[in-house]
Amino acid sequence: MYGFEGWGGGYFRVGASGHVVVTPRGHRDPSASIDLHDVVEGLSERGLHTPVLIRFTDVLESRMRDLKDAFDKAIRDESYEGSYACVYPIKVNQQRQFVEELRERASSLGFGLEAGSKPELMAVLALTAGVEDMPIVCNGFKDDEYIETVILAHKLGRHITPVVESFAELDLILKHAAEYGVRPRIGVRMKPSLPGAGRWAESGGERSKFGLHAPELLLALEKLDAAGMSDCLRLVHFHVGSQMCDIGQIKNTVNELARVYCELRRLGATGLDTIDIGGGLGVDYDGSNSTWASSVNYTLDEYALDVVYRVRAACDDEKQPHPNIISESGRALSAHSSVLVFDVVGRTRFSRDPDVAWIDRIIASEEGAGIEVPQPIDDLRHAWETIRDTVSIEDKRALDAYHDALQAREESRTLFNLGYLSLPLRAVSDRLYWAIGRKVLALTEGIEDGGLPDQIDGLAEQLSDICFCNFSLFQSLPDSWAIEQIFPIAPIHRLDEKPTRRAILADITCDSDGQINRFGCTDQRMYKPTLEVHEAEEEGDGDGRPYRIGIFLVGAYQEVLGDLHNLFGDTHAVHVSLDEQAGWSIDDVVEGDTVREVLGYVQYDADAMRRAIRKEAEKAVRAGEMTVAQSRNLLRFYEQGLEGYTYLEE
Ligand SMILES: Cc1ncc(COP(=O)(O)O)c(C=O)c1O
Repeated sequence: MYGFEGWGGGYFRVGASGHVVVTPRGHRDPSASIDLHDVVEGLSERGLHTPVLIRFTDVLESRMRDLKDAFDKAIRDESYEGSYACVYPIKVNQQRQFVEELRERASSLGFGLEAGSKPELMAVLALTAGVEDMPIVCNGFKDDEYIETVILAHKLGRHITPVVESFAELDLILKHAAEYGVRPRIGVRMKPSLPGAGRWAESGGERSKFGLHAPELLLALEKLDAAGMSDCLRLVHFHVGSQMCDIGQIKNTVNELARVYCELRRLGATGLDTIDIGGGLGVDYDGSNSTWASSVNYTLDEYALDVVYRVRAACDDEKQPHPNIISESGRALSAHSSVLVFDVVGRTRFSRDPDVAWIDRIIASEEGAGIEVPQPIDDLRHAWETIRDTVSIEDKRALDAYHDALQAREESRTLFNLGYLSLPLRAVSDRLYWAIGRKVLALTEGIEDGGLPDQIDGLAEQLSDICFCNFSLFQSLPDSWAIEQIFPIAPIHRLDEKPTRRAILADITCDSDGQINRFGCTDQRMYKPTLEVHEAEEEGDGDGRPYRIGIFLVGAYQEVLGDLHNLFGDTHAVHVSLDEQAGWSIDDVVEGDTVREVLGYVQYDADAMRRAIRKEAEKAVRAGEMTVAQSRNLLRFYEQGLEGYTYLEE
């Protein structure tokens, strides 16, 4: 139902207890597992309440090793003579604790880091102190200071490669290289001729923002030659966009890059020994294994094999040595490692029972007040009485009644707007319509979407529950809002019970965009407008525990792209790893923002605010509007609020 097999990547499944079980080492150790619901309960006992982001360090390590293994295998199988390394682009998640965990594992795998801006370069240089041989690739726009820092980093012994993304950067590199007497490792980014695919199509192609055209590549080589530095050109790079969903596209662009490598070598770039295939290695978020934007139609092994095969074939044809291969795979390394968990704090329901006694009471009361009950209300009532006892959608009376109800509800809305229908009677019309609609949905349950009558298109979505969830989409899942990316979503418990309701998820921002109404679906043909959820009272699942939902695969981009809409800040982030004895342990806790902190980001002085409220309260006490005890309460709430979590608290 939730597609764990499709998108879980071997890390997430449903356990016998009905809880989500994480197997952080994936296929390497499927028996080592962590009960996700237990973790959330344990965190709650420690005062770390939902919403909480859980980062599984072992999952990150496993993904890194899988990537390395996939390329190592392809290299062996293809008798390839170069090596493979991934440089993690820290823009995907720059959080220090996260990158430090990654760096620990990167050293042993020969992996490195990529910086895409000056602040990222500063972070990367500090992170690689003590691991000087770790490869660093520098992308992005570079000013004089950026390049001078890179050249000086050579003097610190760093294995660092500035990539020329626009022609002017080459002059700066040559200037500082001469000034400091450094023979730097230089990279060039080429503009691939083909545009990318999917959402980031514009990262590739001739009109792409970054990279050198073929004529500029030649000029760059001439310039280096003139400076006696053609052997300093060590790397050629491209990036055709993130989340490349189609392996066909990857093959074509890798082929082009390999051809550029061979040609540059033929033309005198004798030091050129590395190709950097950029990012783009995608993640199957919806589990459809397709070319849909939130999916990919290839595996990690296929990706590695295709890259190695293409490069080898091009080099063998041109009789050039096999270069070392670098990828800047950010999403693929980090997405699986984080899960966001939040509680459902409330629900809007559209009842399937119109409550006839209530309707009779309202109508009697309105008639008693001399208000006439208009025809559409009678029509709705009649439609309900007709459809109530039908048992199949094949029964012509059912769809007829539904059509009548649609028409009557429309009419009653118009009457209300024109002042001819009272609010109580409009409420009656809504309840009857909901009940009729829910009955139609019950009659069509189990019918494949393709077999549904056209007229009920969108009805399930219209009458599903709205679950209010304690999180901010803008802070924790920005890509869902900005680019309609699908993320896997499922309750993290009660998965041994059949869910009986469907819902869309609404966050607690006061923005109607803050909701999720598209969910992954394993049958490859469509996304679901609603999520299957369990019946649960607002206060929990009957034993006092909240109803908890997880959003999976959120480890790439979401944390750092998140924003402060409505001043909801960072959630708590907790690093959890496997523990031989206890099952799991907490390695690190990064507490979420307090209200004081987010107010500070938008230049408020919390102490001044507190003083202003105190003054006001004093004034109200003096004026007799408030007792001293009430003013003390107000100040206590205000002060506690400032130090508290920005999300709803228990
Ligand atoms: C130059 C460059 N390298 C690497 C990446 C990371 O890509 P991905 O997250 O798809 O691996 C990006 C992201 O767009 C990028 O612009």
